[in-house]
Parts: sequence; structure tokens; C-alpha cells
Amino acid sequence: MNAYKRISALTAGIAGAAILLVTPAFAQTEKSPMVEDVFKNVQVLKGIPVNQFMETMGFFSAAIGANCTGCHVAESLQDQAKFAEDVPRKRMARQMVTMVNNFNKQAFGGRQVLTCWTCHRGGPSPENVPSLLAQYTIPVEDPNALEISPDGPKEPTADQILDKYIQAVGGAAAAANLKSFVAKGTIEGYDTYHVKVPVEIYSKAPSARTMIWHTQNGDSSTVFDGKAGWIAMVSNPVRLIPVLPGGELDGAKLDADLGFPGGIKTALKNWRVGFPMTAIDDKPVYIVQGMGAGNTRVKLYFDAESGLLVRQLRYDDTIVGKVPVQMDYADYRAVAGVKVPYKIVITWTDNQQIILLTDVQANVNVEAARFAKPAAPVLRPRGQAR
Ligand code: HEC
Ligand code: HEC
Repeated sequence: MNAYKRISALTAGIAGAAILLVTPAFAQTEKSPMVEDVFKNVQVLKGIPVNQFMETMGFFSAAIGANCTGCHVAESLQDQAKFAEDVPRKRMARQMVTMVNNFNKQAFGGRQVLTCWTCHRGGPSPENVPSLLAQYTIPVEDPNALEISPDGPKEPTADQILDKYIQAVGGAAAAANLKSFVAKGTIEGYDTYHVKVPVEIYSKAPSARTMIWHTQNGDSSTVFDGKAGWIAMVSNPVRLIPVLPGGELDGAKLDADLGFPGGIKTALKNWRVGFPMTAIDDKPVYIVQGMGAGNTRVKLYFDAESGLLVRQLRYDDTIVGKVPVQMDYADYRAVAGVKVPYKIVITWTDNQQIILLTDVQANVNVEAARFAKPAAPVLRPRGQAR
């Protein structure tokens, strides 16, 4: 295999690079900054918000199995202006965007049927000779790739699976009594150089949630007040960004709602089953699909035996296709009679964060100010004293 195959290095790039990007003055306003406002040399991915542009870069990285410097000069990691420089592979990627757009227009009426992933599947050179290894090996099933099939199981029903979950976490009565919690622990990811740093999560029923983590470069947070949300990350090109309507907003709301399992049935709509049975870590799981208010498709994976939620998978839109966001939940422990996952792993094309809680206080007073729009975080170059 070649160097591009290693996704692990992927966003070492993102964290390192993006941290150096400047915060334009308008980051203080509520409008989503657009690529034209921030970047210098964008020719095809125009007219989209910066958040979606960065998710598109994550899509590219995943598709060709390269880190950011797979298509950008190495100096980009130290100097953000260098991301604007064109190199052959970046030019090729730009041509590919146009090719894919044209193809989808001509063949599929503009629907995003063909994407970078369709051909590349994690490598720079799509294969064009059939693989005998692939043909004669039983493929490893990816539970994320499963979809509802017309002859899939109709039972247990979505209601039965969700009821069993509420039962499993401690029952409807206990769940209804959980009104707020403050959790403390550690988080690690590319933006913490894979080192554990402190994290706090503040949650208030039915759906307010704030997570603050203290990186080596300053404090980052995600805030959702029940209606609107903000992403305030020192590692992002624009450090304070409103959560975009659609996938991002649906995701922020769902993460907040899932803190209070009693309300799960109203967290999503159009619940459906009919997925084939599958397993995560060798344990059988049931999959239930629901839709967010902004039409985001979400799959929830419940342990068939314990009934607990082990995975949430949702799909965010980018200009070149959908990107998956996955949350894995484990190490459930009782807090005020309700089982709460003490381990959460968030995986998406731009980063992976591992959250390990150490202490969860239920039904404590959480001030409304915790869910107010945060200030743009201040970048503290690594190594500078706190
Ligand atoms: C498959 C190739 C590819 C990969 C991998 C890739 N990019 Fe890009 N990047 C591009 C292309 C192509 C453009 C220009 C898009 C256009 O012209 O519309 C671009 C533009 C950019 C820009 C705008 C620069 C400017 O000022 O014009 C930034 C910032 C950027 N990329 C960051 C990243 C980051 C961070 C990563 C790693 C997650 C990344 N890119 C991974 C192909 C890539
Ligand atoms: C229809 C199939 C197909 C699709 C879809 C596709 N590509 Fe490609 N791509 C190819 C082929 C074939 C090559 C040539 C590989 C080679 O030379 O070995 C290539 C080459 C590339 C290269 C150059 C790789 C290198 O080795 O230098 C980049 C970068 C790239 N594609 C990015 C993208 C991006 C980004 C998308 C989505 C916008 C995309 N491709 C969509 C088939 C495709």
C-alpha cells in the first residue's frame, strides 16, 4: 500500500493546519461565513458556507484516502494561505468535481448518485481490473452500509425497540425524572494531539446541550440551546460559526435529545425498521431509522440483548455527496436511576473524538447562560502557559 492509504494521518493535518487559520472579523455575526468571504482560490466549490466546504474537504480526504497534504502543499499545515496554492493533484480533484457534476446532471437529473467515493473507495487510483481476492473472499459486513429492504424483518417494530431501550435505561418514570446533568471527563482527538484533555458536558431537558473541551490551543465548544447552535472551535478556519440548518442542526438537536432517553420517540419522526439483522463488536443489533426535522436521515443501533443504544449514524450533506457522522455509546452506568453512556466515540471524515466521562451529576442546576451563544474562542499557540 502507498502513503495515501493511511487515513490515520488524515486530520493530524486538519488540526495542525486549521489551527493557524485566521478568524475574520465577521465571525462575530450570525450569518454563516461563505467560502468567498474566507478563501482565496475556490473555483468550483463556490457559494457554500465554510462549514460545508470543510466537510467537503473531509469527503475528499476519505474518498482518496489522503490527508490534507495529499492535495495541498506541505507548508499548508504551517501557513493557511498555502491551501490556496494549486498543485497537480488539487487541479485534478477540481476537474473531477466538474466531471462528477456533469455526469450526475446528464445521467441522473442532478441527483448525487455518482460521488468521489463511488470510484475511489479510499485510494487515489480507482481499480479497473476485477479483484480475485475480493471475488473469492467473504466481505466484512459494514453495519453502516445496511439499508431497509422490502423483505427485511418487520419485527420487532420501531416502537418495541424504543420501548425496550427506555426500559433498559431504567424505565419511563426514572427517565422522566432526569431533567439535567453535568458530566466531566476527558476527550481526545486530532485537535488535542491525541492527548486526553478535560471536557465538560452541560445538558438540560428536553434538548439543550453544551460541550466544552480545553485543548492545548484554547477552549473549544459546541452549544445547542434547544433551537439554535454554535460551533466555537480553535481548530476551525472560522472559530465561531452558527450551526447550519439541515444536517448540522438536526445532529445538534439529536445529540442533546439523546441525553434524555425518555423523550427518544419524539426526537425523530418517520421511524422505520426493515434492516437486515447485523452485529457491532459481535453483538447482534437492531437498526431503527428516523428522520430529523431538517430531513436528516438517522440510523440508531440498539443492542438486541440489553436494549441499549450502541450507535447513532447520521448523514450530513456536502456539495459533493453525503458524509456519515457516527457516535458510538458504551460503558453505561446508572445516574439517578438512568443508565448513561460513559464512553462516547464520535467519528466523522474530519476527526475522531473519544470522550470518557468520570463523573456525572444529575438534576443539578444548570444556568441558562451555559446555552447562550459563546464568544469566538481565543487561539493560544501550543505550549503557551495557561
Ligand atoms: C482530493 C484532494 C483534496 C484533499 C484531500 C483536500 N483538499 Fe482542500 N482543496 C482541494 C481543491 C480541489 C480545492 C479548490 C476547490 C475549488 O477550486 O473549488 C481545495 C481548497 C481548499 C481550501 C481553500 C484554500 C483557498 O484559500 O482557496 C482549503 C482551506 C482547503 N482546501 C483545506 C483542506 C483541508 C484542511 C484538507 C484536509 C481535510 C483538504 N483541504 C483536503 C482538494 C483537496
Ligand atoms: C468515475 C470514476 C471517478 C470518480 C467519480 C472520481 N474519480 Fe478521481 N480519478 C478517477 C480515475 C480513473 C483517476 C486516475 C487514477 C490514476 O491515474 O491511476 C482519478 C484520479 C484522481 C486524482 C489524482 C490521483 C493521483 O494519483 O494523482 C484525484 C486527486 C481525484 N481523482 C480526486 C477525485 C475527487 C475529489 C472526486 C470527486 C469529486 C473524484 N476523483 C471522482 C476516477 C474517478
